[in-house]
Amino acid sequence: MIIKVLTLFPEMLDSIFSHSILGRAQSKGAAAIEAVNIRDFSANKHNSVDDYPFGGGCGMVMTPQPIMDAHKHVMKNIQVKEKIRTIYCTPKGKVFNQDLAKELSREKALVFLCGHYEGVDQRVIDEVVTDEISIGDYVLTGGELPAAVMIDSVVRLLPGVLNQEQSYEDESFYNGLLEYPHYTRPREHQGKQVPNVLLSGDHAKIDAWRRYQSLKETWLKRPDLLEKKRLTEDEKKYLKQIQETSIKAEK
Ligand code: ADE
Repeated sequence: MIIKVLTLFPEMLDSIFSHSILGRAQSKGAAAIEAVNIRDFSANKHNSVDDYPFGGGCGMVMTPQPIMDAHKHVMKNIQVKEKIRTIYCTPKGKVFNQDLAKELSREKALVFLCGHYEGVDQRVIDEVVTDEISIGDYVLTGGELPAAVMIDSVVRLLPGVLNQEQSYEDESFYNGLLEYPHYTRPREHQGKQVPNVLLSGDHAKIDAWRRYQSLKETWLKRPDLLEKKRLTEDEKKYLKQIQETSIKAEK
């Protein structure tokens, strides 16, 4: 996947892109990620990229010319046949989640636009942006961290990026549930034992325990997720047990 990020602060992103799984995804050829400096495209003799808002008000607005020229430049250099989505990182956007990460991971190329100050001139959004996405209901100082969050969650889903031990099939949100708890050595830590079933070597039992724990975590911490999920007959049975046990514990 080719990913271009239009930003005023490429240095903020370069280090994130070159480390850990994002770095490895690139050396394996699964992703090519580049932060492109919008300021390099300013036609203004002072290289400025922002100006006062028409109509007054506080803050500055990013001007359209450098962004549009940077966008044109990256689009020209991405050699894919498919339509390329341009994502503007904004708290006004659709809220990002695992389903959206999966959807974006099926694209051949993505362009992210990071705003700063009071945001970008609306004409840029009208002209080139296909998706406005927020990473949550809070306001950050710019779009770089949101772009990095989204890119991390998308790239790790690309084929060949995670190895088998890191596979995402068991993890939270993959099947609409939170993940079961994990334990490692030692078997006993400060008087607390690892659940016996995990030491039993009985894979069917371990699997059943994990599915039960996964439902329990979800019911206790994110019951809203259960409203959206179609449960299997087994899961319904487990959930009933969990609910009855917690109701008894409350009494
Ligand atoms: N830019 C500023 N805040 C943001 C948020 N919550 N999500 C995406 N982009 C943003």
